[in-house]
Amino acid sequence: MISDRYGRQFRNLRLSLTAACNYACTYCVPDGKRLLPARHELEADRLAAAVELLIEAAGIDKLRITGGEPLLSPKLSSVLPAIMALPLDDVSITTNGQLLLRHADLIAGSGIKRLNVSLDTLDPVAFKSIARGGDLETVLQGIDAMLTAGLSLKVNMVPMRSSNLDQVLPMLRYCLERGIELRFIELMKMGHLRHNASYARELVAMPELLSIIAQAFDFERTDAAYDSTSVRFAVKGGGAFGVIANESAPFCASCSRLRLASNGHLFGCLSSARSQDMTPLLDQPRPEALDELRRLLGRAMEDKQTLGFAGEVTVMKFIGG
Ligand code: 5AD
Repeated sequence: MISDRYGRQFRNLRLSLTAACNYACTYCVPDGKRLLPARHELEADRLAAAVELLIEAAGIDKLRITGGEPLLSPKLSSVLPAIMALPLDDVSITTNGQLLLRHADLIAGSGIKRLNVSLDTLDPVAFKSIARGGDLETVLQGIDAMLTAGLSLKVNMVPMRSSNLDQVLPMLRYCLERGIELRFIELMKMGHLRHNASYARELVAMPELLSIIAQAFDFERTDAAYDSTSVRFAVKGGGAFGVIANESAPFCASCSRLRLASNGHLFGCLSSARSQDMTPLLDQPRPEALDELRRLLGRAMEDKQTLGFAGEVTVMKFIGG
């Protein structure tokens, strides 16, 4: 197992099925640019083989299927069962929810227990201008279908000053009523936001967010897992929410995340553009492949930040949320 001098290990793998997305969210895609999917995406069997090697070489025990939009990929129907058959403690999916209804049977039947749905607003007009794709009502129906199927849900919301700050309380109410944990993600300096003056204006940091929530709810901070990215709060009267406070309370020192992009490249940190190509070792005999992979993981570990999220020009949809 790879471990660095801060005791960090890779336990938590984000597997991006595809860089393609049916949204073009303002914080991910620059105005007017629908980025093309990454080329040379790995086939389902090679992705699953890569994951299997990573479990052994890195000691991965949690996996999240991401993208791009993972439900857009035809690989989902073969990768999901392959992943569920691997020795992992926890498997979940992050999706924008647009195709949940279409894949409800596949997901509910796979044995997966948890889903994260990215949703930034309950206002259909604001939805169109933030996501620039898809339709709000379809997402809400998908969420209901998953709750009915008995899955445990989290919703991710990225608060931004000019587009959805008025939605903080309505979103929290919506989630609490349904037993969903809402997680506010502080806007990250990624991609085109890295060098964009609007970033500082748009960021709604945790202290401000909590003061908005305090207008309507009583809550107190609770414990979260050691390598959790979120600061968690229990709401008086039941339910919880979290803040992923990349800026206000960076969690780099205990980060256990590793990302495998859909083209077979490993990323040790969201805040580093450096990657390690895993594809050549997929054709090697297993002992050599594992040795080489341990070397790549050592390099990926060096990319982790220690103090905080420095920002990078990499884009979430390529490297995998
Ligand atoms: N800042 C914060 N969150 C982001 N996401 C994508 N790009 C950014 C960004 N620049 C979020 C998506 C999704 C999750 C995987 O990452 O909204 O919920």
